[in-house]
Amino acid sequence: MDIFRIEGPVQLSGVVSINGSKNASLPIMAATILTAGKSILKAVPHLSDISVFSQLLGRLGCELTRSPNGDLCIDSRVIDNPVGEYEIVRRMRASICVLGPLLARCGRAEVSMPGGCAIGDRPIDIHLRGLRELGAKIHLKSGYIVAEAPRGLTGCDIFMGGPFGSTVLGTANVLMASTLAKGKTIIASAACEPEIVDLANCLTKMGAKIDGIGSPRLIIEGVKELQPAEYQVIPDRIEVGTFMVAAAITAGQLRLLNCRLDDMMAVVDKLRNIGVTVEKGKTRDERRETRDEVVVARRGSIKPADITTQPYPGFPTDLQAQFMALLSLAKGNSVVIEKVFPDRFMHVAELNRMAANLRREGSTVIIAGVKKLVAAPVMASDLRASAALVLAGLVAEGTTVVNRVYHIDRGYERIEERLNLVGAKIFREGI
Ligand code: EPU
Repeated sequence: MDIFRIEGPVQLSGVVSINGSKNASLPIMAATILTAGKSILKAVPHLSDISVFSQLLGRLGCELTRSPNGDLCIDSRVIDNPVGEYEIVRRMRASICVLGPLLARCGRAEVSMPGGCAIGDRPIDIHLRGLRELGAKIHLKSGYIVAEAPRGLTGCDIFMGGPFGSTVLGTANVLMASTLAKGKTIIASAACEPEIVDLANCLTKMGAKIDGIGSPRLIIEGVKELQPAEYQVIPDRIEVGTFMVAAAITAGQLRLLNCRLDDMMAVVDKLRNIGVTVEKGKTRDERRETRDEVVVARRGSIKPADITTQPYPGFPTDLQAQFMALLSLAKGNSVVIEKVFPDRFMHVAELNRMAANLRREGSTVIIAGVKKLVAAPVMASDLRASAALVLAGLVAEGTTVVNRVYHIDRGYERIEERLNLVGAKIFREGI
């Protein structure tokens, strides 16, 4: 188990290139199950979550290879074992998004029921409700969801809203299943996250007929079959946001290449209110395609802010912990309300160990800004919480030790190397 030893405080300055999105890549990889051929996915990041998901697809029967230029090739001609095993699902909940495509392709699927995790209960009732409405018969057997539709799925109108709004992977599951259903499906209260838009665009490239992409009302006209495709995954907006906070918290300046600021309006707005400058520019990549870049810098003090996380286009829950680290150092009091995962606060006690002053009341955290953070040994509990601890470690006085950094490797590629190139002092050690 690796640890990070982080020496602070530092001030970051330089250029960082943003990788492809993890949360867009996973459902897009699952979408290849719907085709019987070889798809080529570009910009899929090298992350442990992607490796685990690749193993899952491999066990189903797919053949996966990385070409020398980094493209991920998925040959899904053979799917002879439509089973998502407990051993893999327990390591990564996102494995659930093979359920819809397996059911559509094979008429049957068995996927281990995901349990809770460090960010809360995470039920999948809405996924199952949607698939049942498409005609699947579903029951639970020894901890496995067994879904059957031997005569195929049939389009219908489905409402996908839940107690916390729409569901991202639930929408992905039902959308993928409905592309091969007979007739028309309408998904109301669909998730509008950019990762769902990316999935829908990839499915369209595979031959699916989807209207309303990017809106909460998706209309899908089922087709007989989909074709494999070549597709480029969008940049990771959560990685962009994390590096933006890295620039802001260290009073530094970072130029971030390959990002789409239009997907991040709530985040950019919040940063500007906090006193961070965010300037958008354009660059051309090696294929001469124009891409957004952004320069993020802070010179004055950090102003307090109120943040409420919400489904897209609201402020993303996946950046809540990182912003909490930033607001810990604000001049005044801030309030963070978590409306997507009301228990996603494992980082609160850890940040307090670093001399932050955070008080949790239910799904709200009140932050009394402090002048400085102080290094301490802390424990990473989930992916985004660990990112927050690394960010805090950059500015805390002394040597912060972050334990269990495997959490951060799930979603950030070589984060310590990339931060060190712009001025951080992070050392990875095996224990
Ligand atoms: N929910 C239900 N019933 C369901 C499904 C969800 O009540 O059937 C609830 C959840 O408990 C939660 C809310 O609805 O309160 C939203 O959950 P959602 O289903 O949208 O989350 P998800 O699809 O499981 C994805 C991302 C998460 C991200 C959330 C919210 C992937 C692989 N995961 O999860 O990313 O936080 O959407 O944006 O795309 C991360 O990357 O660190 C991460 C956790």
